[in-house]
Amino acid sequence: MQGVKKEVLIDAALREPDAFSRPDETDDAAFYGRDRMVNHLDATALGTVTDWIGRLVIEEHPRILDLMASWDSHLPADLDPAEVVGLGLNANELAHNPRLTERVLHDLNREPRLPFADDRFDVVLNVVSVDYLTRPLEVFADVARVLKPGGVHLVFFSNRMFPRKAVKVWSQATEVERVRLVHRFFEQSGGFLAPASAESIGKPRPRDDKYAHTGLPSDPVYLMYAEKPGRDPSRPERPRVVVDSTEGPTGQEEFERHRAEIKSSLRCPHCGEKMKKWMVPQSPFTQWDNEFMYICFNDSCPYLEGGWRAMQEQGNGGLSYRCMYNPERDTCMPVPVHNLMALRESIVEDEVAAAA
Ligand SMILES: C[S@@+](CC[C@H](N)C(=O)[O-])C[C@H]1O[C@@H](n2cnc3c(N)ncnc32)[C@H](O)[C@@H]1O
Repeated sequence: MQGVKKEVLIDAALREPDAFSRPDETDDAAFYGRDRMVNHLDATALGTVTDWIGRLVIEEHPRILDLMASWDSHLPADLDPAEVVGLGLNANELAHNPRLTERVLHDLNREPRLPFADDRFDVVLNVVSVDYLTRPLEVFADVARVLKPGGVHLVFFSNRMFPRKAVKVWSQATEVERVRLVHRFFEQSGGFLAPASAESIGKPRPRDDKYAHTGLPSDPVYLMYAEKPGRDPSRPERPRVVVDSTEGPTGQEEFERHRAEIKSSLRCPHCGEKMKKWMVPQSPFTQWDNEFMYICFNDSCPYLEGGWRAMQEQGNGGLSYRCMYNPERDTCMPVPVHNLMALRESIVEDEVAAAA
């Protein structure tokens, strides 16, 4: 029921006359004219983008259009495209992109029709830029026109943006609603088969990342993709991207085994890592009466990784939980965390240090 309500909200937001207005309506070419040779996501998230492109581009020598391109197209090193056309607004950024075989300056908000012939490309990419399109339905429809039958449009997005240039319906949507929005763009453009999606949320941030000290997990990666109808039936079907956080968890049997041994092993039943002894903070609000608990501090634990997404889906974005073992009651329970550093100050026995 709640899902239906959210769909309606997004549709209502899309119908607002100013849904695609932006705080900064000045010329996009001027705004993007300043070089930004930066990474728009952290290295882990960009690795996911590259990995998923590698999985979904099954053509041997694909013709690729990188829409809203900059200095990096995030293509796997071993992909051998017949061509990569980069379309964007900054000539210098495009000139620094080593994968491009052709560079096109073109403002999609002024002219959503793409300057390419019908049926030219196998793959059209849009990486972390769909939020800036003021006429997305026209652009998506034209992407379908320039794709070959069976070609695929891959739209990646995250939760970071230039807020002054992002359209209102995007800025005001939650992350879950943005997934629906892009779904709507595919659906309503009329040029695609039913879209599929994948998301990677809550992976640990690289240790050398400039925001690692904040304890925030890696930037979320969302992908929505769909093919143009008419695939040659002799071509194999494109594989689906498996959602990351369901790839890692131990199987049910292993979970049961770890759970049965937890009292003696003190290993997390979800990932098998040794849990850390954790001093229960003494405060009038403490809800537990024992002095110590054991908590899994593995930042890649599937219980924690899945938690970011589960909480997000319940409207509690920015929260997850770690697995906590109560040795006196021999029970496991979730303990909420708002970042990867939370609770660490009360670890009393660092397993790494103890083993050294
Ligand atoms: C956040 S950056 C992403 C760049 C690149 N796709 C990447 O993954 O690093 C947004 C890009 O969208 C391009 N862009 C923004 N508005 C555009 C427009 N109206 N028409 C064409 N490109 C646009 C900018 O040139 C900029 O490179």
